[in-house]
Amino acid sequence: MAATRVGLIGAGGVAQRHARVLSGLPDVQLAGVTDVVPAAAERLASTYGVRAVPDVAALLGEGLDAAYVCVPPFAHGPAERAVVDAGLPLFVEKPIAINLDIAREINALIAERDLLTAVGHHWRYLGIVDQARKVLGGRPVRLVTGAWLDKVPPVSWWPRRDRSGGPIVEQAAHVLDLARCLVGEVSSVTAVANGTPPSAGDADVDGATAATLRFAGGAVGILAATCVLGWKHRAGLEIFADGLAVAISEDRLEVRDGNGSWTVESDPDSARVAVDRAFIHAVRGEDNDVRVPYAEALRTHALALAVAEAAATGRTVTPAEEPAEEAVTRA
Ligand SMILES: NC(=O)c1ccc[n+]([C@@H]2O[C@H](COP(=O)([O-])OP(=O)(O)OC[C@H]3O[C@@H](n4cnc5c(N)ncnc54)[C@H](O)[C@@H]3O)[C@@H](O)[C@H]2O)c1
Repeated sequence: MAATRVGLIGAGGVAQRHARVLSGLPDVQLAGVTDVVPAAAERLASTYGVRAVPDVAALLGEGLDAAYVCVPPFAHGPAERAVVDAGLPLFVEKPIAINLDIAREINALIAERDLLTAVGHHWRYLGIVDQARKVLGGRPVRLVTGAWLDKVPPVSWWPRRDRSGGPIVEQAAHVLDLARCLVGEVSSVTAVANGTPPSAGDADVDGATAATLRFAGGAVGILAATCVLGWKHRAGLEIFADGLAVAISEDRLEVRDGNGSWTVESDPDSARVAVDRAFIHAVRGEDNDVRVPYAEALRTHALALAVAEAAATGRTVTPAEEPAEEAVTRA
């Protein structure tokens, strides 16, 4: 079977990672790169000996089998519309949009065309997530505590609310996605924010957010986020059931029950490779282990936006109801 030809839209940090991973997979050929900053596209393209092209239309003219959309939150929409219109499988980086309207519109277009999609919630490919699910064994969860305690990432758009969506939408979305995956849907949220922005240029995002989550299954949870540190301090989730504590982050699972405790170390890079490999396998029709198609990411995005709205308004917010995944995505 011929190599799968992949085009990259956006040539920044995460696109560089996908290019590295994809170029290491058998049966994948990078077919071109585009970026609104031509020099960025040139830099990435030349690293892999492929063409930098001026825009998405030109990239689609390169004879692609799939496209990756690796743009900042505010820039989502036009690239996805063009790729969907071309009927191509689509990998989109999280968060999938700056708001719910664009994400819903793209989700509906994808559903109309019944396209294969995947979103970069790579934590779902950590082997320790499967282990955590087994340990929890379906027992009723009582309490969830999530945290994303970090610095401002070194990209200019990040500290601006209208560019990134803020720390909950942009970063803590990984933790919210993991909470949905292991504990289930959240039925309502409240939140308060420390609105003093981090000291980064013209930042206007909240410096810290504290949220409460009520899960449909009965568990209650909290989420703490800050971006005022100079380092990534901690990002992960703790889940408590009767006589059981499970703590999970990108690099470690810790379990404690009445008999003692145990720890499993994990390599985050393995999940970063697995998320791309699963998408490519699905594109090639080999098997479909896509764990977060677009419609599933839309639910996580709606939850993150609900937390952000609760923090902004002080109101209790019900995350927007999204169509059942089965109704809008391929098997
Ligand atoms: N899944 C993960 O672990 C992970 C890791 C890093 C980043 N991300 C996500 O990836 C997204 C991008 O992050 P990044 O670190 O690569 O940012 P970045 O700023 O390094 O790169 C973004 C690139 O997109 C380009 N761009 C902007 N608008 C464009 C458009 N309309 N068409 C084409 N290119 C456009 C910019 O010029 C820039 O080169 C963010 O949403 C971020 O959250 C995900």
